[in-house]
Amino acid sequence: MMEWLFVPAAYLIGSVSSAIIICRLMGLPDPREQGSGNPGATNVMRIGGKKAAGITLLGDMLKGLIPVYGANLFGVPIELLAATGLAAFIGHLYPVFFGFKGGKGVATTIGVLLGYSWFLGLAFVATWLLIYKISKISSLSALIAAVLAPAYAWFILGSPTLVEASALMTAVLLWRHKSNIQRLLAGEEAAIKP
Ligand code: G3P
Repeated sequence: MMEWLFVPAAYLIGSVSSAIIICRLMGLPDPREQGSGNPGATNVMRIGGKKAAGITLLGDMLKGLIPVYGANLFGVPIELLAATGLAAFIGHLYPVFFGFKGGKGVATTIGVLLGYSWFLGLAFVATWLLIYKISKISSLSALIAAVLAPAYAWFILGSPTLVEASALMTAVLLWRHKSNIQRLLAGEEAAIKP
């Protein structure tokens, strides 16, 4: 069967950077050269405001959700489902269409988790919203939601394969947030400032 094609297809879909494309279409500066320099919804918020950020968030989530949802509908084995989600996530971080310099992976992780299980994705979003309500810091909200994601996957799905996939995304996501973590520890990470 050709089911394995979900993996390269997911990587290619993940490689489409919503932030860069939306900023170009809306006549905004390149998110790689402004604010935090990260091509993601948070930085688009700084550069272009809520509407541009909302579309970026939706686009980056759909990049994770669509391939995993499609693979799920197709009834692929769980290992292939996990790999499809990871491929979309890696595409966002290392996009073939943008010199392999992509974002930090939060929105795409949400999409992938929603594809694994609606409840899992919603648990991540609920955690993000709760921490954001308290802290008003996007990176901190994402980091706490990401750290909890493998535990949520365990309680909600109980599938070791999807727990491992979720833990792998969390590890890479933490690594991509190195500079945010340093600023958080130094008390210098602000709500919308880079
Ligand atoms: O989604 C990325 C967010 O967690 C941090 O983005 O631009 O503040 O580094 P930024």
